Amino acid sequence: MIPLRHLRLGVNIDHVATVRNARGGDNPDPLRAALLAEASGADGITAHLREDRRHIRDADIEALMAGIAIPLNFECAATAEMQAMALRLKPHAVCLVPEKREERTTEGGLDVAGDDNRLAQFIAPLRAAGIRVSMFIGHEARQIEASARIGADIVELHAGHYADLFAEGETARAEAELQALAKGATLAHSLGLEVHAGHGLTFENVGPVAAIPELVELNIGHFLIGEAIFIGLGPAIEEMRRRMDAARN
Ligand code: PXP
Repeated sequence: MIPLRHLRLGVNIDHVATVRNARGGDNPDPLRAALLAEASGADGITAHLREDRRHIRDADIEALMAGIAIPLNFECAATAEMQAMALRLKPHAVCLVPEKREERTTEGGLDVAGDDNRLAQFIAPLRAAGIRVSMFIGHEARQIEASARIGADIVELHAGHYADLFAEGETARAEAELQALAKGATLAHSLGLEVHAGHGLTFENVGPVAAIPELVELNIGHFLIGEAIFIGLGPAIEEMRRRMDAARN
């Protein structure tokens, strides 16, 4: 049995920037959202600097690094530009994701197994600089094993497929996907990786994921920012925290 550890909640604030950029100007301010998240019990902040800067911008990452007291998880593609930025700013963690210009959100996991030599070289200087490196991957054993082999600290398992099946009412398939996530978490933990999960999590679907004992962090963004319209960001984070804790007990 794995002793149940505190399940950290990382709040992804990308879509505060999406709303800001819809109008231009400075409002709403992602740093202000991050500070409110921190005050409401978030354990960390995640921000994804995409190549096309469609939401978070370079200045947002700089402002977050200077302004928040909780760890920043800097999400980015494995490009030279992002590596240089990470080495300059030294965030707590870097989460590597696949990126396609035409996608609306990060659709799949990173192909670590198919790009292991390049990724091993890519992450070495980050780790040498004291940055924790996370791979955003699917739950396939070969991706988990490759992440361990190249020296990643963390794998974040893509929960988006589970979330989609849950939303579609495909109960049996959602349950199968959940079991696959749990099996992946067990494998990753056994290989010495810290295990996170994220993508598509909501009040309704978070419980069964939060109950997977090997998980130590969930990263949640879009739903919380949407829910903030109705109940406020602080209460949305508090309610998510409550549901995560309830699933764990
Ligand atoms: N984790 C990673 C690696 C992501 O790419 C995203 C989406 O940017 C999230 C977590 C959060 O997903 P969502 O916005 O669907 O909660």
